[in-house]
Amino acid sequence: MIDNNILNVLRESGDLYISGEELCKFSGVSRAAIWKRIEKLREEGYDIEASPHLGYRLIGIPDLLIPSEVKWKLRTRYLGREIISYRRVDSTNAIAYELAEHGLADGTVIFAEEQVKGKGRQGRAWQSPSGSGIYMSCVLKPHMTPNEIPKITLVAAVAAARAIRDFTGLDAKIKWPNDILINGKKVCGILTEMKAEQDRIDFIILGIGINVNTKAKDLPGGGSSLKEELHISGGAHNISRVGMARKMLETMEEYYNLLKNKGSSSIIDEWRELSAMLGSRVRISLHERTFDAQAHNIDPDGALVVRHDSGIFEKISSGDVVMVR
Ligand code: BTN
Repeated sequence: MIDNNILNVLRESGDLYISGEELCKFSGVSRAAIWKRIEKLREEGYDIEASPHLGYRLIGIPDLLIPSEVKWKLRTRYLGREIISYRRVDSTNAIAYELAEHGLADGTVIFAEEQVKGKGRQGRAWQSPSGSGIYMSCVLKPHMTPNEIPKITLVAAVAAARAIRDFTGLDAKIKWPNDILINGKKVCGILTEMKAEQDRIDFIILGIGINVNTKAKDLPGGGSSLKEELHISGGAHNISRVGMARKMLETMEEYYNLLKNKGSSSIIDEWRELSAMLGSRVRISLHERTFDAQAHNIDPDGALVVRHDSGIFEKISSGDVVMVR
């Protein structure tokens, strides 16, 4: 286990050295135990300079999605207050579901550095190479009925688009129901799963995958990453996954609270503003048929309303949509 007390004292000291004696005093850790804990922090990826005369100084922090990093200055009340991080899993959604069945606090978030069986919508796979994307699953326990689930998905899509915009300045847009595109390429996907009785949700697993520093060659066709898209607009450095994850949690909590307190109408207005497809011609693939129509609107329940060439409107609650010319 990482010693957060020592870490936080080192962080607060910024560029200044802190003596061994002060470190003991402020962290409450005994002199004998300090060295071992510093070594543990180093193993986790923290770069700590130790000078016999001057003391200790934190000179590098890892961009790892671990509790000590994500929770540092995280401005949420419940989302991400409990974080469980893994190096490698099949799927964070699968783990979150399993753990939630045995009881997890509302707002717990599971992160992984790599997924070997990352799940996408409609039974597809989600490419999750190690250390380059954000793979996270939030456990939510709203007092809602199962048929209100699409609203949570909408909220997550608006929050993801907003968080990406705020954090990177990129022009993130939403493609129904919950893909986030930049320059027409998919950079983020959302997979909502739930355990529910007929009229009551036990828990929701909100799985979010963001391609942050992922290379185009590691992604399926039509996919991209924040770094790839920033590169196009001139930047080339790695984007902080921890910073992006924090922003995502903060924005998600903000919109989730809005949904719970004020309902979905203002969020749906924002969804429309951020939509990449309303007004466009789209191809809809349902289980039993495929057809072209115009994406007309999104209704209060989160369904897509399309207008057929005959002028008839149809409500689509689930399915795949691509934009056509
Ligand atoms: C999509 O198909 O667009 C949805 C992709 C969702 C991927 C995320 S990554 C974290 C979480 N764990 C999974 O196995 N899937 C979701």
